[in-house]
Amino acid sequence: MSNQKVQIFDTTLRDGEQVPGCKLNTEQKLVIAERLDQLGVDVIEAGFPVSSPGDFNSVLEITKLVKNAAVCGLTRAVENDIKVAAEALKNAKHPRIHTGIGTSESHIKYKFNSTPEKVIERGVAAVKYAKSFVEDVEFFAEDAGRTDNVYLAQVCEAMIKAGATVLNIPDTTGYCLPEEYGAKIRFLKENVKGIDKVTISCHCHNDLGLATANSIAGVANGARQIECTINGIGERAGNTALEEVVMILKQHPYLGIHTDINAKLLYDTSLMVSEKMGMMVQPNKAIVGANAFAHSSGIHQDGVIKNRETYEIIDPEDVGVTESSIVLTARSGRAALAYRAKKIGYELTKLQLDDVYKEFLIYADHKKEIENQDIHKIMKSFDILGATA
Ligand code: KIV
Ligand code: ZN
Repeated sequence: MSNQKVQIFDTTLRDGEQVPGCKLNTEQKLVIAERLDQLGVDVIEAGFPVSSPGDFNSVLEITKLVKNAAVCGLTRAVENDIKVAAEALKNAKHPRIHTGIGTSESHIKYKFNSTPEKVIERGVAAVKYAKSFVEDVEFFAEDAGRTDNVYLAQVCEAMIKAGATVLNIPDTTGYCLPEEYGAKIRFLKENVKGIDKVTISCHCHNDLGLATANSIAGVANGARQIECTINGIGERAGNTALEEVVMILKQHPYLGIHTDINAKLLYDTSLMVSEKMGMMVQPNKAIVGANAFAHSSGIHQDGVIKNRETYEIIDPEDVGVTESSIVLTARSGRAALAYRAKKIGYELTKLQLDDVYKEFLIYADHKKEIENQDIHKIMKSFDILGATA
């Protein structure tokens, strides 16, 4: 099978920005949008233009700045939302309107007090209206994760007929298991007339920690767009993390699916988004967390010092991290201590190392982490001179 591309649809500036306390001004959004374009994302969801004048203006300015990616604006299945989004996108080289409506039983009953038939009618009208402004129209079936598959197939078929180019199948509440979400995508591939003319998109939330696994299951079953955010930020427990899906596809080439993301920019982009949004990245976050390439147990450190691949499946440089780090704690062994000591100028004999290591453990039992200055102190107490001393 030939290697196929999956499009990366970044929604950091829309779903990501919905996080309480993460609101960005236009200037900050422009800096992030420019970086996303350099990163190589295919689509930037720049905002929800009807939601506020500030968001409208951000989308408008982003369309003027972005060189390569399509720029997308979110709307409800409401005429005025669509008209306003079209206005905000008027300067975009590749404009996309993202419109849709809830399709699960609970959304139809409680949100809209409507019927399945009427929801399809509203969706169709929205897609047709959006189509009168732009060629590229993405339809989202909100809460598709909990929508009956047979009804979802009817919705999709109606939206394709109305002119949708992309069908977004969101697991809005992060409910699905990977097998279930993958089977949903496969069901649509096998049962919706005209499905091969459009792109199926995965938009998964992380309420059960399954957003990334679900997106990959979706792609394995025929989806060709993933909606994601930098650092996985987003509503509640967040969205699929861009850096995770990109690296999964890169580390598993036999899946036959690639992205056009420049992975070397991932770490720096993560730092930029974290800093601009004031949202710290958890240290154990995959790919971009502070501990993602840090080794602290003696057994692991010994392995990594001998050969990085013993405990690392990704070369840190591939994601823009300069090098793996060996963190010195009371769990570290002699190999790690000798390695760090050498880095800061001390070449130790075996006897010296034995003595120094005993002292090191006394220090380490009282401190969470041993720093270079601690090592210098220990060496001084043994009258050991470093190369720079
Ligand atoms: O989670 C969701 O369903 C959404 C839609 C608006 C696409 O964010
Ligand atoms: Zn969402």
